[in-house]
Amino acid sequence: MKIRLEHNWREFENGLSGRDAKIRYFVKSNSNLAVLALMARLDSGFDIVSGGELERVIRAGGKPDNTIFSGVAKTENEIAHALKSKIFSLNLESPAELKRIHAVAKELDVPAPVSVRVNPDVDAKTHPHISTGLREAKFGVPFEVALELYRFASQQRHLAVKGIAVHIGSQMTSLDPIISALSQVIDFVKQLNRDGINIQHLDVGGGLGVRYKDENPPTIREYCRSILDLLEKRGCNLSISIEPGRAISAHSGVLISRVEYLKATEAKRFAVVDAAMNDLLRPVLFDAWMEIVPVKQKATIEEMLSDVVGPICETGDFLGKDRLLAVESGDLIAVLGAGAYGAVMSSNYNTRPKPAEVLVDSNHFDAIRTRETFDQMVNLEVIPEQIRI
Ligand code: LLP
Repeated sequence: MKIRLEHNWREFENGLSGRDAKIRYFVKSNSNLAVLALMARLDSGFDIVSGGELERVIRAGGKPDNTIFSGVAKTENEIAHALKSKIFSLNLESPAELKRIHAVAKELDVPAPVSVRVNPDVDAKTHPHISTGLREAKFGVPFEVALELYRFASQQRHLAVKGIAVHIGSQMTSLDPIISALSQVIDFVKQLNRDGINIQHLDVGGGLGVRYKDENPPTIREYCRSILDLLEKRGCNLSISIEPGRAISAHSGVLISRVEYLKATEAKRFAVVDAAMNDLLRPVLFDAWMEIVPVKQKATIEEMLSDVVGPICETGDFLGKDRLLAVESGDLIAVLGAGAYGAVMSSNYNTRPKPAEVLVDSNHFDAIRTRETFDQMVNLEVIPEQIRI
């Protein structure tokens, strides 16, 4: 077995063995159909955030009844689609959303499986843009509100209380915030039990960080162990879901780009490459440091401190700053850790076609997305008759 995606997934499987636990791969981190098909073959569950992702899971052979629908703004159509597909759980994030799910379920005359995502007000100690468990975040509801939602849901014929969910952030490198959030959730489940509301399932979220530079996140096994230990210590025997994205996909992928030009100004040196912020948005959006290496090491060239920049007309168009690189025009470079939140966050900005995606298994490789063409980029655009030349 050589595919890194599978190796990482199995680390979670082994880490959770002995427990009634399901890995629900977080589709948003890398949603290529081949990646999802590979997960489906492992009998992985999925965590999705849109109707489009639900379609992807189904297309790839995944099972909706092993899929959780997260996200703060599910539309009526998405809810109906999920219910008709027999989704495992709709993780709701507001009273208004519960009301809407209830209405759609009544209309379809089916019980909607629901879990409330609670917001425990815990600092995940990660980049503010990917921290989701603080009171100020748009995510989840406070425990008091969750209690009201459970009380209401437990009395409705068209709502089936499935479980409880929490997810406090992404790229977390310390276990403390996760353990603190889960402890609060376990206390709350006990309170619900005393209220006669029985929760069977605990969705512990995702968010385990990876090493991009010098971070020191726990290993997958350590992360699983500490969650299981906590549950055991607190006498919590609910079945659990875990929703890892990045920990499975980040280091399963690299972005390959070619050096077009080397440029030097009085102030800086630049390696101008043919990939750009439209292909990989993380560096400028999150100030993310991602390692950049030449595909072939060349001992004959001198290492230079360079900014690795793309062709887009924006100063924010960089993949890395102040990197020691020995490259010349025509060389290939690889940006490491690009398997998560890379292609999925890409765009056609500057009318740049999206690149090909390739799945590599040792010496074997398959194209799993072909290079986009100009026609595919403009196909949906229409010039109205009256302004056509
Ligand atoms: N579950 C829920 C409800 C989530 O919102 C997320 C991530 C996950 C699980 C999985 O988190 P992971 O295991 O991948 O950390 N674009 C950002 C990351 C956004 C993550 C959003 N939600 C980045 O490039 O760093």
